[in-house]
Amino acid sequence: MGSLSNKNQSFWKKGKQEVSYSKLAKNEEVDVAVIGGGMSGVLTAYLLAKEGKSVALIEAREMVSGSTGGTTAKLTSQHQLVYGEILDRDGLDVAKDYYDANELGRELVQSLVEEYDIKCDFETMPAYVYTQDVKNKKQMEKEAQAYKEIGINGELVTTIPLDLKIEQALIMNNQAQFHPVKFLESMIVEIEKLGGKIYEHTVYMETERSGDKLILSTDTSFTVTCEQVVFATLFPAEDPDSYFSDSMKPVTSHLMAFKNTEVFNSGMYINDDSPKRTFRGAKDGDDNVFIVGGETHPTGDGKSTEQHYEAIEKFAKEEFGLTEILGYWSEHDMVTADRRPHIGPIKEEDFQMYVMTGYSKWGLAAAAAGAQLMTDLLTGKKNKFKDLFDPQRKISEENDVEESSSGKGRKSGVTPKSEKLKNNEAKRFKVDGKPAGIYKDNEGKNYYLDLACTHLGCEVKWNDGDKTWDCPCHGSVFDAKGGVLAGPAKEPLKEIEPFEE
Ligand code: FES
Repeated sequence: MGSLSNKNQSFWKKGKQEVSYSKLAKNEEVDVAVIGGGMSGVLTAYLLAKEGKSVALIEAREMVSGSTGGTTAKLTSQHQLVYGEILDRDGLDVAKDYYDANELGRELVQSLVEEYDIKCDFETMPAYVYTQDVKNKKQMEKEAQAYKEIGINGELVTTIPLDLKIEQALIMNNQAQFHPVKFLESMIVEIEKLGGKIYEHTVYMETERSGDKLILSTDTSFTVTCEQVVFATLFPAEDPDSYFSDSMKPVTSHLMAFKNTEVFNSGMYINDDSPKRTFRGAKDGDDNVFIVGGETHPTGDGKSTEQHYEAIEKFAKEEFGLTEILGYWSEHDMVTADRRPHIGPIKEEDFQMYVMTGYSKWGLAAAAAGAQLMTDLLTGKKNKFKDLFDPQRKISEENDVEESSSGKGRKSGVTPKSEKLKNNEAKRFKVDGKPAGIYKDNEGKNYYLDLACTHLGCEVKWNDGDKTWDCPCHGSVFDAKGGVLAGPAKEPLKEIEPFEE
């Protein structure tokens, strides 16, 4: 992978418009502050502005730079196999609501694409989950039965329109794919037209309550005063009583984009096998593109991530004959124990601070539904999905974070001490009994870092595929030199005095 380092970028961010927004440069006062410029935050800010609320949308880095810009961008209610599990555990009403909420989210995005004529490669097509392993047929049949009971538009089949030998596949009809960055960039323009304020490179720090107002401090010298705040970030920037730390786990998946010789538009696919493979077609101007991912594992597990990319590359070559890599990247998400997101008040009886998090790898349709739910909560309207996504709902099951079989038994991402550190690599050491790291950049300059995550102090692990330091506890990601790429950490990794290797 070393020769590909200049391609370590999400395909969706490749054509990112050169629109940028300024840092917060004055004290602001609005009805609602929305923290986080991904699918949840942008659509919530838009819907609230439509309802006549004054809003400020605040992003620590650049708009759409987080998880939304790193997915396979399937806008679907088919979340691999989930309905049989929800039906068993939570009953038919909850399973139906989960499907209806996601369908509502998909339809909301489609209606916005049509209303504003957004050129975001939106295409309606079926979603497939397939298995090539006879042992998984029982699970597929259980899911198909759940489709029937819930009334989902789909069926179990034994062939798919691809040259792949399968045992079974489950189709969900009338789903969609799109280009998430193009879509959200257009929606941000609509927020501005409605009078919303947009700020980038502005890190939320903390909230002070003053009467019935909230005063949000940032890493600028300015504040945002508001009546309500929505944390629409990967992990909530506030976590009273460590509730969200205890109820979610961070996972990382890996994706690659390949140049394709032909159009791939028969559907969106994912398998129910191990290793996981998820794929779809896309366009880059007139060029055809194939996006493929999988290899999900706990974030910051310390194993080599280069090998995840190599496994995906091998799959694309062997199954589809594709070899020209356009980009590769990681996607991070938080998984809840019952695979339903947390969308609602940050704690019981708090009607000023809200969260949207825990999309469990299937967040696009759910985030749109969540934006509608959040808007209804903040404008005092009824919404039938309030209990479905209530962060305080009772959750009984343990997390089920699958690990890709090809990720098992991997060598550690930590380079052994005896090996000499090469350019663009990092090593972990112990200094005074504490974990410390050295990253050597492409010019051979060393950066000495304290490996204690600046969120709550867990030790970050080197991700050799993406050249990042990843935190296993709540999913913060730091660049090789320690800068924050994804929170909840707000501060970079601390630089320390150079030490002897
Ligand atoms: Fe919480 Fe690192 S993200 S300790």
